[in-house]
Formats: sequence, structure tokens, C-alpha cells
Amino acid sequence: MLSSPQALAWYRHIGVSICVADTASALLPAQAIAAAPLPEKAVTATAPEAKALAAEPLAMPPSLAALRDSIAAFDRCALKQTAMNLVFADGNPEARLMLVGEAPGADEDIKGVPFVGAAGQLLDKMLAAIQLDRTKVYITNVLPWRPPGNRTPTDQEIAACLPFVRQHIALIKPAFLGLLGGVATKALLSESTGIMKLRGTWRTYSCLSGAEIPVLPLFHPAFLLRSPLQKRAAWQDMLALKERLDA
Ligand code: URA
Repeated sequence: MLSSPQALAWYRHIGVSICVADTASALLPAQAIAAAPLPEKAVTATAPEAKALAAEPLAMPPSLAALRDSIAAFDRCALKQTAMNLVFADGNPEARLMLVGEAPGADEDIKGVPFVGAAGQLLDKMLAAIQLDRTKVYITNVLPWRPPGNRTPTDQEIAACLPFVRQHIALIKPAFLGLLGGVATKALLSESTGIMKLRGTWRTYSCLSGAEIPVLPLFHPAFLLRSPLQKRAAWQDMLALKERLDA
């Protein structure tokens, strides 16, 4: 066991926000802490750099595997340093419906798969209600790494990773896009209106391929877990999605 300011600083950096004792009794061996990246090594692009990265036309990767490799090699987002795993995608790459969430949470970070925690379980139920499951949809996030403590990603982190999710959509070429929550909606649609007003209203996403993809902003399942009264509206949105898919 180890007690040190370094352990405390590191725990704070990875998002631990609750203190249950006066000293930092390390749950990790000293070697693990020593080997862990420290905050000063974080390299999220500055605001102008992130803006430039988001605007930069990156070479289109030829495949999903190549996209995954280029995300894994990307070093301009510090979230990578605190995350356990890169969370790339789940589901069927041939699906007509692609869902984009915000960022992995703790469960997703551990498993390296999007939407496997409580919000993911609710998402699966919402999909099942319109006869869909992960063999029929493709799921990813705007951010491929977990923000420490599940905090909302910063504008810089989003801007730095945005080219990747845009490439991801261009590779999947879905017939329809569903944006889960305000962060994904704001990142992929140039709309200043918030999710409370945008949800359930069809919009168009301009894909890197040149295609115009119908997109439906949806409430994030984590929001629905906190605000169950909104499930009625979410149900209407799922029906609207099904209607378009079946048309
Ligand atoms: N919330 C998200 O936005 N994405 C996940 O993968 C899990 C929870």
C-alpha cells in the first residue's frame, strides 16, 4: 500500500471526486501509479489547434480498421491518457441506422464497447421496442475515450475528435443517423438550438461523402434514466424513427 500526494493527484486527474479517508491509500500498486501518465503530459489540442484539426480535411481511411488505427495513433486528445480503452463502435457496419452518442462511461471504458452500462441497457430496450437490436444498428460516440469522472467533454476535446466521427459516418454510409443527446447533436449539426427543442425533429447531416443523411436528434438514454417523465417523448421519437426506417 502506498500513500502519496502523487496518488492523490492522479486519482483527481482520472476523475475520482469522493474522499472517504484523510489519506490517499492507493488501491493500485506503486509501480502502476509510477507508470501512469501524469496530468502535465496531457496533450489536448489548444482551442485554435482543435479548431484547425476539426477543419482539416484528413485523408479518408480506406476501412473501419484503418480508421480505428488512426484514432489509436492520435495524440492530440488527452482523454486517451486517462482512459483504459479506446471505445470504437458496436453493432452492424452494414446497418441502415447509425447511432452516435457522447462519450464512453466507466463500463464502456472497461469493456471497450459503447453503451454497455445502465444507459446502454436502456438504449437496448428502446431499440427492442421498435424491433431493433445491435445486429441491426451501428453504434459509436463522438469521443472514443472516457472523460475522467464522466464529465461533459470540452469543446476542444470534441473539436479534436470530430474529424474521426465524421469519417466514421462516411465509412458506414447509413441511411439514417440518430444522435443521442445534446453533445452529439451539437457536434454534428450546426444548430444553436438545444436538444430539448431539437429532439424528434428531422434534420439533414452533410456527410464527407457528399451525401445528405436524414438525422434525428434523440434524448440520451442517460438523461432518460434521470428524467423518466421524458420517456413518453422518447417513445414518440423512436416511433418516428421506425416509421422512416420502414418506409
Ligand atoms: N453514454 C454515451 O454517450 N456513450 C456510451 O458509450 C455510454 C454512455
